[in-house]
Amino acid sequence: MKTLTVRTKARSLAGYDSYINLANHLISTNRKSHPTPPAPKKVMDYPVQFLTAMAHELRNPLTNINLSVGMIESVTKNDDLKVYLDIIMRSSIRINDLITELLNYQQEENMPAAQYSVHQLLDEVLETAGDRITLKHIEVIKHYAIQDCKIKMNRLRMKIALTNIIINAIEAMTSGKGILKLTTKSVYGKYFIQIEDNGCGISKENMKNIFKPYFTNKQGGLGIGLSTTYEILESDHVEIDVKSKEGEGTRFSLLFDKNYQYGVFE
Ligand SMILES: Nc1ncnc2c1ncn2[C@@H]1O[C@H](COP(=O)(O)OP(=O)(O)OP(=O)(O)O)[C@@H](O)[C@H]1O
Ligand SMILES: [Mg+2]
Repeated sequence: MKTLTVRTKARSLAGYDSYINLANHLISTNRKSHPTPPAPKKVMDYPVQFLTAMAHELRNPLTNINLSVGMIESVTKNDDLKVYLDIIMRSSIRINDLITELLNYQQEENMPAAQYSVHQLLDEVLETAGDRITLKHIEVIKHYAIQDCKIKMNRLRMKIALTNIIINAIEAMTSGKGILKLTTKSVYGKYFIQIEDNGCGISKENMKNIFKPYFTNKQGGLGIGLSTTYEILESDHVEIDVKSKEGEGTRFSLLFDKNYQYGVFE
């Protein structure tokens, strides 16, 4: 898998804030891709009252979903159906948690970075994506370094960054044939996280655009995931390296330089 390499250290997505991207995810009712990105909005364009009202509105239909699922669950004897009802229930709990996280986001974003285990964080992301992994019958292989590593980070932001990469990997793979490989290693003053899939891969043409806001080639995609990831990793001085080959798969490597203020590596 050596054909394409994109190093993404220098460019800045000025004006794009992960907080706004999250808000966009929640408030966007238009699931089509945007040919020309609209002007970036500033955090202050979304007053806290608006987000609070939006969160409240989102919780109403969510409550209806939960109540309806509960009703169906209480009358059905079909075990297969119950598996899917559980997934709906867990997903709606997850949406509810995300709404809460969104409301606490500004507060948590301003919190000082703290030491956090990389392996624990990766496991949390896998748990978040667990239902999609199960539904697509994806095999997960963990090649974690023997010693865990604690990195100074804002946990919530880093979790969003990693989740976007892993969800894309899941979406790129064929059901029943997917292998998702997570590797951590410490080499010559750098700590690596690698996320590898054996999915459809990324064409040379698309590779130029994957970190641009609103770039998507998926039906119903927003094209926001990787631009958010980029913004978070760049602001945390994490280098991203992407290698991909069409029809074979894609590997995202994140490089934490030990000389930067990430803290303890062993
Ligand atoms: N692992 C991958 N394999 C193949 N293509 C990928 C992979 N990761 C990203 N891409 C490509 O990069 C594009 C941009 O990804 P991004 O996450 O920003 O948006 P999206 O997944 O299309 O939509 P969303 O904002 O809902 O996540 C994708 O549409 C896809 O074409
Ligand atoms: Mg995505």
